[in-house]
Amino acid sequence: MAFVEVDPREFDESIFDLLDRKWGLVMAGTSPEHCNAMTIGWGQIGQFWGKPASTVYVRESRFTKEFLDACDTFSVAFLPDELHHTHKVFGTMSGRDVNKTELTGLTPIMIDGTPLYEESQLVFLCRKAYADVLEHANFVDETAYRRYYEKSSDKDDWHTMYIAYIEKILRKE
Ligand SMILES: Cc1cc2nc3c(=O)[nH]c(=O)nc-3n(C[C@H](O)[C@H](O)[C@H](O)COP(=O)(O)O)c2cc1C
Repeated sequence: MAFVEVDPREFDESIFDLLDRKWGLVMAGTSPEHCNAMTIGWGQIGQFWGKPASTVYVRESRFTKEFLDACDTFSVAFLPDELHHTHKVFGTMSGRDVNKTELTGLTPIMIDGTPLYEESQLVFLCRKAYADVLEHANFVDETAYRRYYEKSSDKDDWHTMYIAYIEKILRKE
């Protein structure tokens, strides 16, 4: 099945369902061999600086962050339900320790210079516009700090927020 492009104004899927139930894959790199993907559950889709945009949040410790920082573009993709089990790999193992493509058997491809897995059902091709690290001094909700950044395992492992223009939305028909 081939991808077809969707006009952002015609996009009608629930981003809450996509991120909270299906989970996304953020993927960056320069080739199918030199790329990395990880599961995300946090993010936004909307408008920024006059364009369709997405935001993702990636902790400093993630291997994927090295690829995100080195590349101008990344993809946010959603797999069909029958491949949800692969998030056991993408969401709990690091590309520093394992080759996630080999472990899952998925097929990395490049579209417009950005990596994604061919098996994806829905893909946002994103170009970075702004990146910033969350800072404790700016927290309004202090309980979020205690919950997500104070525990020893997560201590000082801050999220960087990447706001990116959505250049294409691709869906399998
Ligand atoms: C459901 C779920 C949602 C996740 N959401 C995020 C997220 O939004 N940001 C993040 O930094 N890590 C998130 N993670 C954790 C990363 O996916 C995980 O640490 C992954 O192994 C990192 O891989 P890497 O080191 O190859 O980049 C999530 C994990 C799961 C299971």
